[in-house]
Amino acid sequence: MNDYGDLFEEHELTKVYDREIFRRLMGYVRPYLRWVILGVFLILLAEAARNLSPYVAKVAIDRYFHAPELRGATLDRMFLALRGVLLLYAALLLLDLLASFLRGYVMQLVGQFIMRDMRMQIFGHILRLHVGFFDRTMVGRLMTRVMNDVAALNELFASGIVDSLGSLIGLTIIVAMMFALSWKLALITFCVLPVIGAATLAFQILSRRAYREWRRQLSRLNAFMNERIGGVVTVQLFGQEENTFRRFVGINTEYLRAALRAVLAMAFFGPLVELAGGLSTAIILWYGGGQVVQNATTIGELFAFLTWGQRFFWPLRNLSAQYNTLLIAMASSERIFQLLDTRPEVVEKPDAIPLPEFREAIEFRNVWFAYEGENYVLEDINLTIRKGERVAVVGATGSGKTTLTNLLCRFYDVQKGAILIDGYDIRDLRIEDLRRHIAIVQQDVLLFTGTVRDNIRLFADFISDEQVEEAARIVQADRFIRALPNGYETVLQEGGATLSVGQRQLLAFARALAFNPEILILDEATASIDTETELLIQEGLKRLLQNRTSIMIAHRLSTIRDADKIVVIHRGRIREMGTHAELLQLQGIYYRLYQLQYRDQELLAAGKPRGEIVS
Ligand SMILES: Nc1ncnc2c1ncn2[C@@H]1O[C@H](COP(=O)(O)OP(=O)(O)O)[C@@H](O)[C@H]1O
Ligand SMILES: [Mg+2]
Repeated sequence: MNDYGDLFEEHELTKVYDREIFRRLMGYVRPYLRWVILGVFLILLAEAARNLSPYVAKVAIDRYFHAPELRGATLDRMFLALRGVLLLYAALLLLDLLASFLRGYVMQLVGQFIMRDMRMQIFGHILRLHVGFFDRTMVGRLMTRVMNDVAALNELFASGIVDSLGSLIGLTIIVAMMFALSWKLALITFCVLPVIGAATLAFQILSRRAYREWRRQLSRLNAFMNERIGGVVTVQLFGQEENTFRRFVGINTEYLRAALRAVLAMAFFGPLVELAGGLSTAIILWYGGGQVVQNATTIGELFAFLTWGQRFFWPLRNLSAQYNTLLIAMASSERIFQLLDTRPEVVEKPDAIPLPEFREAIEFRNVWFAYEGENYVLEDINLTIRKGERVAVVGATGSGKTTLTNLLCRFYDVQKGAILIDGYDIRDLRIEDLRRHIAIVQQDVLLFTGTVRDNIRLFADFISDEQVEEAARIVQADRFIRALPNGYETVLQEGGATLSVGQRQLLAFARALAFNPEILILDEATASIDTETELLIQEGLKRLLQNRTSIMIAHRLSTIRDADKIVVIHRGRIREMGTHAELLQLQGIYYRLYQLQYRDQELLAAGKPRGEIVS
């Protein structure tokens, strides 16, 4: 069902390097190339400073420890003799400290900048995607996923690359210094390398599988929690708390097991590296010690080798951890790019025609439309709506009424035929112009976190405070808004949960009026308003519709009786069209619907429940 399903999947992480992905990633780095170069320079500086210090120590040991003039010297005298070397040692230490701090900061900076750019690009892209995309994608999960992916990339830029590069540079310097000083001792030290190599390989195989399973279980856990907490009312209503909790315990336990396995693999690796380090120390002590005794090498050299030998294995361990970061980052970028490569299916032509004003008529001409494949939801629709006309659309649930309005707004493109406004195919018009002329009031009103005022003008600054209040007054929303704790400044929670359905509906009317569209669509807008409120807003509704072209989709036929034209849709086809009187005379579908509701009203009067139209 979901074309973008694999955006959610935990792929097997195998791709360490993909030229295309890498090229695109570099595109994000390019604006900050100067920072990156600075970062690399700082890494070089820090690693050089750090790994030169053992050499300085070696010089101190070899030059002064055996010097005849220093035999039995006091500490003061020793300090005096060594002060140059000590100063150099301190300077190297300071340089290492400073450069390490700066490189960390600089690379974090780059990572944060890149994340900001990516988030902007992703949000901007999703905002402009065609409506059909959202039919097939669970946006909440998609967003969590994508934001996690962006964070994974930050990990790569901010620490992964730096640490790997630092490790590599450090290793190179150490190896070069060791070979320069004594290639024999160097070779002996590296005797343990095969051991560490094998351990690293084992670690990678073990940890990668465990790690992937850990992440898979985590996303499963999150999804379950999300769904059940989001639907907690349903869970409680049907008394499923116990059952839900039991299932959660199961998932949670599996997650724990996966986490423990992954942690075990990692825990196993650290000591192994430590062991290899210890082993090489022992070998250096034995072999190097022998060389010292035989006067083939100096104590200073031995000291330097011991220090380097211990430092040698930590970067190795680091590199192996960074390998994982790289794998995850590659998979993450692949998903991000896949999303960014999703092309909108509804696009504006480069030479789109502006439509500053709606003057004459809307025309559906032989329109065929299917959401999927050949599954036509609308078939051969022909309908003309003149400017100023009030058209009502009736039909059973699922007959295609909402689809009709979706097409007019060009949320989807028709497969056959065309929709024309003032003679222009809407596919040739500028989308912004087209939609500016149309407002839709739906049954479920979407409110955003913000004040009542902001919700009426949808944060648009071209609508003044006065216009907002004027609109609210006209649709009779004014009274309840003033009764709210802070009136128009009352902050609504996400979804407007603190308002009743009817109140939300009134806000939607006010919103539509504030935007002052030429074409107004009411899609079952009064369905959730009680009859009393409906009577109350009847007047406001009338004024909302005044001097406007309107399409009204309604269940209650009483509300559309005086429409200029009533269109009856049945299973995606227009079956009847005419005024209320004409359609009654026809004695067709409309007539039967009307009879049904009329009878219902009589039943209502007699105290029986009232039904709505169903197919
Ligand atoms: N986004 C969608 N994707 C696939 N099918 C859809 C979508 N929206 C509606 N449909 C289908 O199209 C038909 C018409 O739906 P709709 O226009 O919403 O009917 P109405 O508004 O008259 O109740 C229904 O069969 C519905 O299942
Ligand atoms: Mg509908």
